[in-house]
Amino acid sequence: MKQLIKQIAHSLGFHISRLPKVDKKKLIQEYELVTPNAEYSPWNIDASFVETYNIIKPFTMVDQYRCFELWRLIEESSKWQCGSILEIGAWRGGTGALIAKRAKECGIAERVYLCDTFTGVVKAGPEDSRYKGGEHHDTSKQIVEELVFNRLNLDNVSILEGIFPDQTAKEIEDLKFRFCHIDVDVYQSAKDSVDWIWPRLVSGGIIVYDDYGFRNCDGITKYVEDQMLCKDRLVFHNLNGHAIVIKK
Ligand SMILES: C[S@@+](CC[C@H](N)C(=O)[O-])C[C@H]1O[C@@H](n2cnc3c(N)ncnc32)[C@H](O)[C@@H]1O
Repeated sequence: MKQLIKQIAHSLGFHISRLPKVDKKKLIQEYELVTPNAEYSPWNIDASFVETYNIIKPFTMVDQYRCFELWRLIEESSKWQCGSILEIGAWRGGTGALIAKRAKECGIAERVYLCDTFTGVVKAGPEDSRYKGGEHHDTSKQIVEELVFNRLNLDNVSILEGIFPDQTAKEIEDLKFRFCHIDVDVYQSAKDSVDWIWPRLVSGGIIVYDDYGFRNCDGITKYVEDQMLCKDRLVFHNLNGHAIVIKK
């Protein structure tokens, strides 16, 4: 306690020796007023998020904070009049199912398309120092179906199996999109996905990149930073491992 009082006094610009009789309660109140207070944690009190996250948790590699950000951004994207939703890199379906659940809750009428090779990462190249190809093959379309259709009882999801966009994009080429989650781990897959979706993304449409700034995914960091040079999009670096792009 003595140490804490010292720290607080110091942060308020007082020297402890000039405070022989410290009113501890007053000092702490003052401290709380001037220090940043980011204790607001809606991911703990949004009942639907908590319930959904607990169901999808064993099916995702993505942490609670990034999951909550996807949850919130889907809600934001529901302000646009139209547009389907796309996830590239579904793995066992965790984030895709969470996105679809929120889309349904927010009244988004269009479908959510979940894409994966189900044989692991593809197109690893010189920009990717850790990924070699084939990682995360420990999944299947059936695992995603079990989560989405049986455990969460969703009816707004279609699963596209194969390399995106090369093998599966033709099934959705006439659609417009409001939101896209790119979780593919490597540069070339991210680039090909964005090149495909960009002309189909509505104005104000959102792309969320997972793995931005992750040591293992330097290709994704490089790709996002390339996009900072583009004048037709806003690029946000979120410190939680997401990068967010909004189309002008
Ligand atoms: C990190 S995992 C995705 C994690 C998932 N979003 C979750 O909730 O944990 C990356 C996935 O991307 C898939 N993938 C990578 N490139 C792809 C591509 N071009 N087309 C389809 N799937 C791809 C891999 O097969 C792998 O399952």
